Amino acid sequence: MKPPTPSRATAPSAGPVPLGASPAAAVVCGIGAWVPPRVVTNAELARRLDTSDDWIRTRTGIRRRHVVAPGVSTGDLALQAGRRALESAGGAPVEAVVLATTTPDRPCPATAPEVASRLGLGGVPAFDVAAVCTGFVYALATASGLIAAGLARRVLVIGADAFSTIVDPHDRTTTAIFGDGAGAVVLRSGDPAEPGALGPFDLGSDGGLADLITVEAGGSRQRSTGRTAPAPDHYFRMDGKSVFRQAVLRMTESAQRVLDRAGLRIDEVDRFVGHQANARLLDAVAARLGLLPEHVVRHIDRVGNTAAASVPLALADAAHRGVVRPGHRVLLTAFGGGLTWGSAVLRWPDCRPVL
Ligand code: UT7
Repeated sequence: MKPPTPSRATAPSAGPVPLGASPAAAVVCGIGAWVPPRVVTNAELARRLDTSDDWIRTRTGIRRRHVVAPGVSTGDLALQAGRRALESAGGAPVEAVVLATTTPDRPCPATAPEVASRLGLGGVPAFDVAAVCTGFVYALATASGLIAAGLARRVLVIGADAFSTIVDPHDRTTTAIFGDGAGAVVLRSGDPAEPGALGPFDLGSDGGLADLITVEAGGSRQRSTGRTAPAPDHYFRMDGKSVFRQAVLRMTESAQRVLDRAGLRIDEVDRFVGHQANARLLDAVAARLGLLPEHVVRHIDRVGNTAAASVPLALADAAHRGVVRPGHRVLLTAFGGGLTWGSAVLRWPDCRPVL
């Protein structure tokens, strides 16, 4: 007679699962992306703000960005990217939706349940993750946890942001940097050794520097009095220079930590998909890590900084153009308000992006 297989609950405990190890790996099996059709060039911005194409290109690497039309929300972007990722994954239903965003449709409720409903996913668990520009990497880790815990076998992970709805239209710096968009992947339960398997991760935060990136109004700290708060308090504010310094430091450290955890050398990384905040920032991180320029994925010139959408948009675009190819070892690293940062590694699977 076959001996009974010990269930997870009764199996002898081997202690906590080590950081980065997972009993069932989350495997990327589909990717999609969407940007709204309206393009805003640097020249168009220079017609209404005290800026120039030359300043924006040389200081940030951005040539244009996409922005939502009035009335179009983050949930609308997430829906489009989510639909495309599901199509890329072959259309099989998912059992959870995790949406990373800084610009939810409303402060309450979360945006993810409505997106799941509009995608026709029935009553699956759906929730938002708030980690600003690191949100997508945090959401990947969260979804991997759901899969490892046996709570879902397939998860839709979306990064979507509409920063044009929160930047001060008179602030030439933030208006020039940010753009709107959404990217999404489908994760399925699989084997840690197969292409597409995510892991290990590195995640971190420093709330002591929370004030470097803020929107002051709309939360519990600045209580609603029933009257509108002063306009600047509704806008996104960033101490660009300090954030730049922190981003270089934290992204480099996080990338190095995840490589150490994975037992990889930097010359084993084929493509670095870093948060597309500034082309100079990507150069600085790549130089510190010892990456060759041809290994750095660049998407910022065409879309700007799309916050939580930045990493999946860059990844989808690179996979679409053949810059990221099946079998490539890919390093994902993001940084954002919080402060927060995170990295993950995977070998790119054979999946067709839908854009
Ligand atoms: O997504 C989360 C992570 N975000 C980041 O990592 C962003 C990191 N920070 C940055 O990318 C850069 O700091 C910025 C692009 C935001 C700013 O570039 P910078 O080289 O740090 O410029 P700065 O803020 O030091 O400003 C230099 C000058 C200032 O003029 P003065 O005071 O020297 O006369 C600014 O007013 O550039 C001016 N400036 C502009 N000029 C023309 C700032 N924005 C603009 C603009 N056009 N759009």
